[in-house]
Amino acid sequence: MARVEGKICVVTGAASGLGAADARRLTEEGATVVLTDVDEGRGAAVAGALPRAVFLRHDVTEEAGWAAVVAEVDRRFGRLDVLVNNAGLVRFASVEDCSLEEYRLHQRVMSEGSFLGCKHAIPLMARSGGGSIINVSSVAATKGIGVIPAYSAAKGAILSLSRSVAVHCQEKGYGIRCNAIVPGAHDTPMTAAAMSSLPQEEAGLAQIQAQGQGKPEDVANLVLFLASDESRQITGTHFVIDNGETMK
Ligand SMILES: NC(=O)c1ccc[n+]([C@@H]2O[C@H](COP(=O)([O-])OP(=O)(O)OC[C@H]3O[C@@H](n4cnc5c(N)ncnc54)[C@H](O)[C@@H]3O)[C@@H](O)[C@H]2O)c1
Repeated sequence: MARVEGKICVVTGAASGLGAADARRLTEEGATVVLTDVDEGRGAAVAGALPRAVFLRHDVTEEAGWAAVVAEVDRRFGRLDVLVNNAGLVRFASVEDCSLEEYRLHQRVMSEGSFLGCKHAIPLMARSGGGSIINVSSVAATKGIGVIPAYSAAKGAILSLSRSVAVHCQEKGYGIRCNAIVPGAHDTPMTAAAMSSLPQEEAGLAQIQAQGQGKPEDVANLVLFLASDESRQITGTHFVIDNGETMK
């Protein structure tokens, strides 16, 4: 028996990087995965290469889009077992340089996007007899990084949101678990783009720090565990996956 056999999963931001790896790993272990992203071309290509996978164009900042995705999952499969709130972006600008517009963009995509995902997925998950929500935070939520205040604040909100959602679902007796994952540097297009946007002297240091960075498959294995019933006693907490980056 595969580890998530028969489960219906939604992964946001699944056209690239960690989300694409999550979708791949979940299908390898028997799940059906709905991949969503604003990047239609790449999202459809990733889904097209996987068994039991479909792609839906979806902007996580739009509430109507969330309602449509959940309605489509209900129509096609009649249930929802796993939601991975993974979509994200990062721009480098210190608190002095970051515009309010840029700050709000980070909150909209990651903090509000995860909130909307939980809000709209919970009723269908509850009707399905329970499920697992996995919200993607970052080590940037737990340590100070001067060049990404907007990103760090959005990722911090995701940690707090996850605990609140977990308590709510337990109090309601829905059988829905909610946890956050806290990755350090992993080798994805986001990390590569972030590195290349740094001034040369900082980029050298960042490259050295990134030497211990993981592969998207490393995060996908953690997501798989949290999606599976192997983690059925785990809710309201977070898991750091950073090769020791924040241990000291
Ligand atoms: N890569 C890392 O080192 C790292 C570390 C910590 C946390 N994370 C988090 O993991 C998640 C995935 O990151 P990644 O490295 O795979 O990045 P990525 O850039 O490779 O993929 C992010 C995906 O999110 C999509 N996206 C962006 N805005 C969207 C929106 N409004 N609606 C729907 N989709 C949208 C993009 O189109 C893209 O496909 C992000 O939340 C990121 O913050 C990544």
